[in-house]
Amino acid sequence: MDTGYITDDNDRAFPYVLNRRWEVVDKLGQGGMGTVFMARDLNLPNLNDQKRACVVKQLRDDFFREEDREKALQFFFREAQVLAALNHPNIVRILDFFTEEGKSFLVMEYVQGQNLHEMVMKRQEPFSEEMVVEWAVQICDVLHYLHTHDPPVIYRDLKPSNIMIDVHDHVKLVDFGIARPFEESEDNTHVVSQGYSPPEQYWGAADPRSDVYALGCTMYFLLTGEDPAALNVASPKAVNPDISDHIDEVIQRSTQQDVWGRFQSALEMKELLTYNVHAGKKEQQSKPVLAIVAGVFVTAIFLGGLMLSAKLHDQSEMQPAPVDQYRDLEANKNLEAEKNKFLEDKRRFEKEKRELMSNFLNLGGKKEDMPQQAATTSAAKKLPTMAFPIYEQSDEAAITDPDGLN
Ligand SMILES: Nc1ncnc2c1ncn2[C@@H]1O[C@H](COP(=O)(O)OP(=O)(O)OP(=O)(O)O)[C@@H](O)[C@H]1O
Ligand SMILES: [Mg+2]
Repeated sequence: MDTGYITDDNDRAFPYVLNRRWEVVDKLGQGGMGTVFMARDLNLPNLNDQKRACVVKQLRDDFFREEDREKALQFFFREAQVLAALNHPNIVRILDFFTEEGKSFLVMEYVQGQNLHEMVMKRQEPFSEEMVVEWAVQICDVLHYLHTHDPPVIYRDLKPSNIMIDVHDHVKLVDFGIARPFEESEDNTHVVSQGYSPPEQYWGAADPRSDVYALGCTMYFLLTGEDPAALNVASPKAVNPDISDHIDEVIQRSTQQDVWGRFQSALEMKELLTYNVHAGKKEQQSKPVLAIVAGVFVTAIFLGGLMLSAKLHDQSEMQPAPVDQYRDLEANKNLEAEKNKFLEDKRRFEKEKRELMSNFLNLGGKKEDMPQQAATTSAAKKLPTMAFPIYEQSDEAAITDPDGLN
């Protein structure tokens, strides 16, 4: 993040006031679509500088072609509209949007922190798995919020430079420039960020699973310090052996080229991410031992379940001895309580069985144990990586299809 500029791009000296309210005091950074400035809210004179701090994003206007300028303006408007409809602690809050002297501005809450791209570049080494999982879980939460919003919003540009981490280690998504409400039938805008966009986004078919893909790519970057390859995300563990098998598997699954091979929702991905955190010890066990233990448990639980069912069946056919009414009632009550206990045990056993099977698959399971996923992986690897040369030229979000805006 650059600071200490004396003038802005238009050689305007700081400070200057926009829309009679926002005092622009410094330049914070430059993105592909605009310049970001530090500002103060003049409407809140009694508050300290920290509370009045805000950010002004000015849309770049140096487009060569008039149609590019128009498209950029439409994206900028949509960013403002999308942001205005959202309310989530992990999403930057919008404060104002206006056009002044032919230039368009977006004013938003100031996030005290850095974006994840800067953070990796500064520290020159990957982040710990624990840290990355903590952020990824927060991102899953905010993606779930967006995907279940009415109407659902697909973020579509999840990448390290669009994710900020504030001073409390909280994630803030900035840059909703290409986010848009999800319309199944007519989402044909082609906007991609190389290395972070899934194949379907190259032909304009983004859906919630496209954001899941981008999150997997972002985790790959944070854990290896390297940008993922476009349309062919490898195992991060091959680059950084410190990564656990489980997280390696989660990243590989979220970055499958085939949408059906991925987690089907951000929530599903979060479940496996959080499971990993609590099951750290089990990962240390060798896979053959794990497989045997899981097999024995599953068999035992299955047999136990059978015995329980048989017992329940027997009981349902039992008739209480006709001694007297009071004793009959008492016997029935006891039987009922016992039956409920058996049912509860059965439910518990079944739940444990399910968990064990899922543990087995997640921790010990190899791809060959999961034929569907193995098929997806090998199919994905066959995808040509240079199939979309036009969009792969730039790391910035490219605006390529004006029709998709409508
Ligand atoms: N509200 C904010 N508070 C603090 N810093 C911000 C804020 N919004 C953006 N920034 C900083 O400015 C950078 C660029 O912002 P943003 O991503 O919105 O612009 P952009 O032009 O769309 O960028 P790009 O095209 O590179 O993604 C961000 O990476 C972040 O570091
Ligand atoms: Mg950005």
